[in-house]
Amino acid sequence: MAEDLKIATGTKEEQYALLYKQIEALLQGEDDRIANMANTAAALKEQFNFWWVGFYLVKQEQLVLGPFQGPVACTRIGYGKGVCGAAWERKETVIVPDVEQFPGHIACSSLSQSEIVVPIFHNQECIAILDVDSEHLDHFDEIDKQYLERICALIK
Ligand code: SME
Repeated sequence: MAEDLKIATGTKEEQYALLYKQIEALLQGEDDRIANMANTAAALKEQFNFWWVGFYLVKQEQLVLGPFQGPVACTRIGYGKGVCGAAWERKETVIVPDVEQFPGHIACSSLSQSEIVVPIFHNQECIAILDVDSEHLDHFDEIDKQYLERICALIK
């Protein structure tokens, strides 16, 4: 049975380090991808109170909305479209300090100001992406990138 998440304190890096261990334990022994995405989104939301955190799954040449926490969001995103589609196409993490400056950004929420999108791979193929949105400008940096990539690597 899942235990309550212990909310970490300290620097962002310290918070991520403890959160990573907790997510690793939470996902251990469970191979259902949707269940693991759902708990990962909840854990990230609970620790950092991000505006929106969730997954899109690659399904027939589109990204389709998966487990998330936050306001309702658009359900389908095309290959190369928006920040999510760009991360899928580039096969690398995309950090957007100001969504207004990203050509083709898809505004699911008018309050979202910055964003990070991390692709998730299985057998070298991108099978999903993690999208985290913030209501603050320039919210995400290399620490977020490093830890969110490590957390995404836990999702098989
Ligand atoms: N802003 C994203 C769309 C997804 S929502 O933010 C949840 C994008 O440009 O791809």
